[in-house]
Amino acid sequence: MRRILVAGNWKMNKTPAETEGFIEAFLPTIAGLGRVEIAIFPPFTSLDRAGRLLEGTTIRLGGQDLHFETSGAYTGAISASMLVACGCRYVLVGHSERRRLFGDDDRIVRLKLEAALSSGLFPILCVGEGTEERRRGDSEGVVTDQLSSALDALDPERIVIAYEPIWAIGTGQTATPQIAEGMASAIRGWVSSRFGGEAGGRVRSLYGGSVNPDNAGAIMGEPDIDGVLVGGASLDPAKFASIVRSGVSVGGRDV
Ligand code: PGA
Repeated sequence: MRRILVAGNWKMNKTPAETEGFIEAFLPTIAGLGRVEIAIFPPFTSLDRAGRLLEGTTIRLGGQDLHFETSGAYTGAISASMLVACGCRYVLVGHSERRRLFGDDDRIVRLKLEAALSSGLFPILCVGEGTEERRRGDSEGVVTDQLSSALDALDPERIVIAYEPIWAIGTGQTATPQIAEGMASAIRGWVSSRFGGEAGGRVRSLYGGSVNPDNAGAIMGEPDIDGVLVGGASLDPAKFASIVRSGVSVGGRDV
């Protein structure tokens, strides 16, 4: 069974006090919605407080990034074990903003993925093409290149793949459900050919890029899409809860 995952990437938003306000407002709105997995990704400075507040709830916590070394002289960096100690289960790896603004190239993405896995975290590997690559018709090539350079082995229970076309992130220009499904199915096909049909059938594949309460249902209704990675709309507890409810009606997929 591939369970639907609704993940909220807060990026550089919310202080610890604002994080607490979000969680207090959000929890009652999703009470009893057990069929969907929910995860939030607050900034590092809010993780400890969020981890304490979410203890005993079904909501998972994740980090937005990590460093690949375990400790040492890396000013400003956060290790996998620090995330684990704050209660994180997930970590985003290779988000396009990290690749574009912070120089995370394929080698670094791979090292981060390995560091996450060896510390027991569940990485969400983000892949996606830019506007120009899409215009040239290279979308699938870019995505499969990113997958091959990041993944040596794939345990479908441990790694989630998120297709996030860069042209759709923060632009209000969502990929149509057909475009999102086309890439999700290509990703599944790539995983099957590389790691076997069972892995291809079991790996969870998310879509991200301008997901909101109005389009989330149609996107998650597509057969190869197992959830969404939401940026802007995840900052508002009511909007995020509405996206979660869209996921509940889809439930999950038997594989
Ligand atoms: P967005 O961001 O929903 O604000 O487009 C998505 C993401 O970057 O994960």
